[in-house]
Amino acid sequence: MYQSLDEIGLPAAAHVATVEETTVPEYLQRHYWWAYVHPKAVQFFDRLWLINLILFGNYHRLRDAVLDEFDGAPFGKVLQVACAYGDLSIKLAKRAAACNGELDVVDVLPIQLKNLKWKLPQRAPVRLLRMDSTHLNLPDRHYDSVLLYLLLHELPEAERARTLAEACRVLKPGGRLLIVDYDLPSGWNPLRYLLYPFLAVLEPFVPSLWRRGVASLLPPGMTFRHDRFFGGLYQIIVATRGD
Ligand SMILES: C[S@@+](CC[C@H](N)C(=O)[O-])C[C@H]1O[C@@H](n2cnc3c(N)ncnc32)[C@H](O)[C@@H]1O
Repeated sequence: MYQSLDEIGLPAAAHVATVEETTVPEYLQRHYWWAYVHPKAVQFFDRLWLINLILFGNYHRLRDAVLDEFDGAPFGKVLQVACAYGDLSIKLAKRAAACNGELDVVDVLPIQLKNLKWKLPQRAPVRLLRMDSTHLNLPDRHYDSVLLYLLLHELPEAERARTLAEACRVLKPGGRLLIVDYDLPSGWNPLRYLLYPFLAVLEPFVPSLWRRGVASLLPPGMTFRHDRFFGGLYQIIVATRGD
């Protein structure tokens, strides 16, 4: 079932790396080829200053909001659903190594896994898995924390709901689902009106996320904390699985 990343042309590295055969979703190829799929996109976008610019200077704030959740708590088994440009996964990998934890990162694009593999420190306790977030080939109730970092706004509504359901399924009872994403900015925030036309073209699934929100898609039985940043343009949800 699994194929090593070496078989798709990656150099050997100390950490385990596996990949499952799967296909690239149509929406990703159609709407995000320029951001994630094309090899030049990866080279171009994976720069901290550029990602920070795209996030209106909030990269460190959003990244650190995730890292802060691991302060003073055991790291355990963590799943990051989808790679992200920048150094979030590297910092998580270092935490995992320091705390005897484990980090799994899944992504549907080999090029993204390959890029992350090159960024990770040697011997990091990280597995890279090629999977679609809507069909995670991972056991039920396995992870202490599952992270969805800036992924949900890039998914069509059906895939967003399925991804959330899968993230909750693989979470242990008492485990935490961490979601960082865009949110509908407050009425006084000019970005609410200025961004809409750009997002509607470049990020066609953001309007539905703004309309429906994320918290409403969480399964019953999850308790959560919801913080908003930067006039409500960004949100972090920390949801705990009850049963
Ligand atoms: C996390 S999102 C956005 C990250 C953000 N723009 C950044 O880099 O800071 C981008 C990643 O999601 C991945 N992705 C999109 N749809 C996916 C799916 N259905 N399953 C797994 N990964 C997916 C893409 O391949 C890409 O690597």
